[in-house]
Amino acid sequence: MSVDGRMRRDRPSTSYSATTERRKPMVHSPSTAEPVTVGDVTVEADSADTGLIHLDGVGLTYPGPPPVEALRPCDLRIDSGEYVAIVGPSGSGKSTLLNLLGLLDRPTCGRYLLDGNDTSLMSEKQRTALRARTIGFVFQSFHLMPHRTAEENVALSLVYQGIPARRRREKARDMLEHVGLGHRLGAVPTTLSGGERQRVAIARALAAAPSLLLCDEPTGNLDSKTAESVMNTLDELNAAGLTVLIITHDDEIAGHAGRAVTIRDGVLSEGFGS
Ligand SMILES: Nc1ncnc2c1ncn2[C@@H]1O[C@H](COP(=O)(O)OP(=O)(O)OP(=O)(O)O)[C@@H](O)[C@H]1O
Ligand SMILES: [Mg+2]
Repeated sequence: MSVDGRMRRDRPSTSYSATTERRKPMVHSPSTAEPVTVGDVTVEADSADTGLIHLDGVGLTYPGPPPVEALRPCDLRIDSGEYVAIVGPSGSGKSTLLNLLGLLDRPTCGRYLLDGNDTSLMSEKQRTALRARTIGFVFQSFHLMPHRTAEENVALSLVYQGIPARRRREKARDMLEHVGLGHRLGAVPTTLSGGERQRVAIARALAAAPSLLLCDEPTGNLDSKTAESVMNTLDELNAAGLTVLIITHDDEIAGHAGRAVTIRDGVLSEGFGS
């Protein structure tokens, strides 16, 4: 089964934040060239163009006992700038897929190319470095440090990047302003609303200028109005060029994305499935 998605809308080539420099991929620069169609035949303009995400027969079986085939071998391509919702019932394999895409887990079969890099050939150290410069994560339960301010929560995420403390604080402030929290820099999470906490988590995910934002039920703990405002933030980031993948149970949330991929009993299919 092949799931081959293409960018659905034209994207501006601007960075999603004026203050966030995009980093150049270290190993391989993916081509932005479009495929060329001649008659009935479509030819990739650049055979090395594998999109931002390219899964080739990737599957994952948890060893158990008993073993659980959480993701059946699948192919998937996601291009830079896409906005994709991963939908499916509880236990269908959505988080398993996200953990693989986020290099938090290794597949038991297949090849995963991220930004042109074959991650199956990489050491843990190389995968960690690629993850740090390519991927931002947003989770349902925010995972903020409770005794740190919004600014500290974002700035501390940059500690391992070798960025001086002053620059870290500047970046944190920029990112928090970018998600509409410039007036709450000194607030600790318990004094923030759910939507504000999730925006701090988004600011933290953006601080390292990732090319891919992976969100696992980011609105799962929010009421529908707050969820909508967090989604508006994700919409704006995508409109400015960031690739966004969002796992959700909620069709309305999924409707924000330009493309849906359904997972059911570990089997991937394009669209909302049946
Ligand atoms: N570490 C693990 N060991 C064994 N089985 C696991 C493990 N993690 C998940 N599973 C199983 O793999 C399947 C997929 O789980 P996954 O967490 O990906 O589902 P999900 O679609 O994210 O569900 P939810 O919507 O409830 O979060 C489930 O059957 C689950 O029980
Ligand atoms: Mg899950």
